[in-house]
Amino acid sequence: MSNKQKWEEATYKSVIRPQRARIHCNFDEWVTKDSPKWQRECFVQLRRYQSLECHDGMSMDASDTCWRFTEILSLTDDCLNEKREKYEESLIGAICFTRKPEIIMLEFCWIHPFWRNKGLVKSKWPLFQKKFGIFHVSYPRTKAMQGLLKSVGFIDPNLQ
Ligand SMILES: CC(C)(COP(=O)(O)OP(=O)(O)OC[C@H]1O[C@@H](n2cnc3c(N)ncnc32)[C@H](O)[C@@H]1OP(=O)(O)O)[C@@H](O)C(=O)NCCC(=O)NCCS
Repeated sequence: MSNKQKWEEATYKSVIRPQRARIHCNFDEWVTKDSPKWQRECFVQLRRYQSLECHDGMSMDASDTCWRFTEILSLTDDCLNEKREKYEESLIGAICFTRKPEIIMLEFCWIHPFWRNKGLVKSKWPLFQKKFGIFHVSYPRTKAMQGLLKSVGFIDPNLQ
């Protein structure tokens, strides 16, 4: 599906679709500027869903420039590919960090609605602490994000 078709599907048709991996391929655990472009494009689509849901704007694309500091944890599950009658790895969530020399920021996270409230993001929190150490969390924060941060005991680095 082209980017234009993906855009139309998300915006006009309101379809929220897990993003299938390329055939015979898997998503990297951490997708970065060094990951194949098809992977980055799948995350752009999830970011599009988030902007439609949270009304927080959308400036992400799959370019090297945009991904210069970006590291995104991919959350995947096996979903049915009806055409191929096979379950295939699909992207169902994204947790996006930017690692700049001066600041590390959790920029956004978005989980497909069918996979929410299963502890997916919470279970990854120790991994983030180990990988990034002290990090900030961007604003605005949705109610769900506030609930998540409270639940994991997140303390804003500016207040520590
Ligand atoms: C925010 C979001 C990423 C949380 O992911 P998730 O995998 O569903 O969260 P978890 O299942 O790991 O939940 C962890 C904690 O957050 C709390 N939480 C999750 N959704 C919540 C909600 N809507 N309201 C209040 N608390 C919520 C849970 O109660 C849980 O706490 P507990 O274990 O103490 O009960 C997900 O709801 C989402 O994608 N929302 C839409 C996009 C969004 O709001 N993104 C954040 C903006 S950056």
